[in-house]
Amino acid sequence: MVSFHPGEHENPVPQINAAAPRSWVPKSTAQRLSLNADWKFRWSPSPLTHDEGFAADKSSEADFDTLPVPSHWVLHGDGKYGRQAYVNIRYPLPIDPPRVPDENPTGDYRYTFELPSDWKIEDGKTLLRFDGVDSWAKVWLNGKYLGTSTGSRLPVEFDATAALRAGANTVAVRVVQWSAATYLEDQDQWWMPGIFRDVTLLHRPKASVDDYFVHANYDHKSGKGTLKVESSPAGRVVVPALGIDVATGEEVTTPVSPWTAETPTLYDAELRTDGETIPLRIGFRTVTYSDGLIKVNGRRVLFRGVNRHEFHPDHGRAVTPEIMLQDVLLMKQHNVNAVRTSHYPPHPHFLSLCDEYGLWVVDECDYETHGFEWNQWVDNPSGSPMYTDALLNRAERMVERDKNHPSIVIWSLGNEAGKGDNLRLMSEWIRKRDPSRAIHYEGDRASSYTDMYSRMYATHAEVDEIGRYAEPPLEDAALDARRRNLPFVLCEYVHSMGNGPGGIKEYQDLFEKYPRCQGGFIWEWIDHCFKKTAANGREYWAYGGDFGEEIHDGNFIADGMLFPDRKPSPGLIEFKKVISPIKVVVSKDEVTITNTLDFGDTAHLEWTAERKVFGESVEATAVALDVPVLKAGESVTLKLATPASAHETATTVTASARDDVAWAQAIQPGADRVVAWGQFVAPAQAKPKAAGTVAPEVAGDKIHLGPAVFDKRGALLSIGSVSVVSPRLDIWRATTDNDRGPDEVTKRILANEWKEANFDKLKHRVDAVEATSSSLVVRTRAAAWVYNRALETVYTYTSDGEALSLSVSVKPTGEWGDLFLPRLGVRLGLPKSTDKVQYVGYGPGEAYPDSREAARLDAFEASVDDLQTPYVFPQENGHRTDVRWARVGALEIENAAKPFGLTVRRWTSEALEAATHSSDLEVDDHVWVNIDHAHHGIGTASCGEGPLPQYRLKPEPTEFGVTFRV
Ligand code: GAL
Repeated sequence: MVSFHPGEHENPVPQINAAAPRSWVPKSTAQRLSLNADWKFRWSPSPLTHDEGFAADKSSEADFDTLPVPSHWVLHGDGKYGRQAYVNIRYPLPIDPPRVPDENPTGDYRYTFELPSDWKIEDGKTLLRFDGVDSWAKVWLNGKYLGTSTGSRLPVEFDATAALRAGANTVAVRVVQWSAATYLEDQDQWWMPGIFRDVTLLHRPKASVDDYFVHANYDHKSGKGTLKVESSPAGRVVVPALGIDVATGEEVTTPVSPWTAETPTLYDAELRTDGETIPLRIGFRTVTYSDGLIKVNGRRVLFRGVNRHEFHPDHGRAVTPEIMLQDVLLMKQHNVNAVRTSHYPPHPHFLSLCDEYGLWVVDECDYETHGFEWNQWVDNPSGSPMYTDALLNRAERMVERDKNHPSIVIWSLGNEAGKGDNLRLMSEWIRKRDPSRAIHYEGDRASSYTDMYSRMYATHAEVDEIGRYAEPPLEDAALDARRRNLPFVLCEYVHSMGNGPGGIKEYQDLFEKYPRCQGGFIWEWIDHCFKKTAANGREYWAYGGDFGEEIHDGNFIADGMLFPDRKPSPGLIEFKKVISPIKVVVSKDEVTITNTLDFGDTAHLEWTAERKVFGESVEATAVALDVPVLKAGESVTLKLATPASAHETATTVTASARDDVAWAQAIQPGADRVVAWGQFVAPAQAKPKAAGTVAPEVAGDKIHLGPAVFDKRGALLSIGSVSVVSPRLDIWRATTDNDRGPDEVTKRILANEWKEANFDKLKHRVDAVEATSSSLVVRTRAAAWVYNRALETVYTYTSDGEALSLSVSVKPTGEWGDLFLPRLGVRLGLPKSTDKVQYVGYGPGEAYPDSREAARLDAFEASVDDLQTPYVFPQENGHRTDVRWARVGALEIENAAKPFGLTVRRWTSEALEAATHSSDLEVDDHVWVNIDHAHHGIGTASCGEGPLPQYRLKPEPTEFGVTFRV
């Protein structure tokens, strides 16, 4: 019998021969050489395919291709090197820690570089640094073995001095996709192996800085900062702007401007040792917990946060500095003030950008074992002695790398890794090394070794309970007492998958009501999808299952507030409005402005007041508004001039960031700098309703009424020159990701209920067509298969000779139980040539009952295509709410008693429902117009709670109507 030993990559030992972890140093006087370049690369299906001879053998390169470093190999070679794969919770391998399958994609890399001629090999040492390799790497230099490392999103440095030589040098690396460490990296994202972050050769001259730790505290009572920089070896610290020039290890206290996410003051400084000078950017701030709150510089902070994965549709997690900057600027532009680096430390440059532009950071360790849940958590690494070293190694490498970023206020141990002593050990190690920050881990429900009570997707009702300190007690009274005195944070809430999320405002209201609730982090920043081209030549965003994965989790990876190309989705626009720290409440002739920032004043804002009168045409007047600078927490009420008008009038007060605000300067000229706005709408004097003065006339097989022609069964054929597909009751919407999710509270899955009820297959029976002296009445019964439930629907048409008014009355009959309706309205068809849409209503973007905070009353114009929201997975979208008037092509639609919802698209809801990718949507022979009385709310049941009770649409007797004109 022959038995085979486990591979080296199946050894749970995290690293072999790695240098001690230390702070990231973006710049220094010591020499460095970036090895980011095109490397030689060979892919194999298994580490068993080739031996390691390539490491010392240049001739092996004959069989190698070329691959850029950094990158993920699956995103290159058009399938030659395998493909990316998406699974959420499950491991895409049999669970058998620390062993992994023989089928284990392997990349062999070789790169030859010239050492600069002035590189002093003899002076000190030279380190070879990898900022991220997924998942296990074995490294050689000039054929000499340097060591191994795991921890995909953590750096490693090897001492390369002995192997380095003048002139040409060759780095060789073997990377395997699956390793013992894979069990620690089960985050909900694409599996994408490779050397995906920078590779750098670093000269470390004698007496250069091995490591340093900047301690820069701020005492809000005295207004003074205390600086102490620990350094090995010792040296001096110089901060010119503060007149500081002290020895390392020495403490110095002096008045400073503190660092906060709102006021990110950084002091340029230098750390000088005999061998090196390192530029520092120092931010003074102090994190404390008192009164059961996390405080920074003595004040409670409110996290308006997002969860950010690193993603780009071309590069995967190999994100460039430009992409990182774009993310930070987009966050600042959308009032985001905090980011949780879900679920691993990001590229360290991202953290420098957070320091510079101002974002509170929860830095999370590269750790998740969620897939063990499928195995009753048996052998979960969190509790397994086999992984203790690996987990402590991860905590240490994160803290050492990132400890000098003022933006980081919380260390997180990881995500969804169950329970176990290793987590407590990680927490203890971190607390000892860096007591200056708070510790987070959501899985520690009792908060026994963390500093806050953290939850994900807790319902509004639960958050309310926690806000009142009224949550159900823990069994352990001592732990309960401790947790009950801790602040509460939602490390994830509202799931931005597809249309929605709905209900963001109600969460924000709770955060603003209860001091204990210190905000949350929305799930998540960006859709992780790749571009593909369909057989019909159209491009689409690909998700799980589109790359031939044997197991996958479909479009659950498309749950971000940015579309994959980083265009903001309506969810982000809604979030921005809801979390705006500047509250603007406009009433008839006043505006009240409140600054709810935690630290900053409003000197960075400029204000306008705009008045729009919606008469025959829209008259607009805008003036600059003189608003005094408000300190954090201050409020002011100002008078507004609001002349009376017979027409509906909107007064909108807007605050925008001034040109000199750092993020505003950095974004594209002309890009949106609005931070806050509020609007008051004064109603018009009641309009006389279009009187039905003309009588229907029967002529042959047609019925004429004013501008309209009907067939004998009451179907509307045309209005003036516009031919139409007759308006008919419509209750169906293409189900949203949230309709398809189980409501955390009611446990109901509405999409299933609605399909089972055949709401998508409504049958319409005409029971009577009655021509009276002033109207045409069409009595119908709309009902679905199988059941006795029906909507008795009466369409009443009237005309004054020019316009055509439609009034619809709906009466539910039969057994409806507790069913909700997806929508209630009528749908009609217009000619395919219809393109331009103008409307006066709430926009500019889509809005639904529980996601409409960002919509304002205005006059808008768009093409039919512009009105679509391109969700990765096609679903209901594009609904404009509270429309007063619209012109769709040549057809004008005017509200009757109540404004209407408007949706215009080139395909039916049924086609939208059937599509799985945007490329499936075919332009129909008609443009379909939905005129809605109401919609069911959106909620966030794709992960969380469905629409709150006030946003649910019940079948009830209803009347609604509109007037058409051509
Ligand atoms: C959470 C998890 C996230 C993500 C989210 C759903 O449970 O922490 O990583 O999977 O659910 O999208």
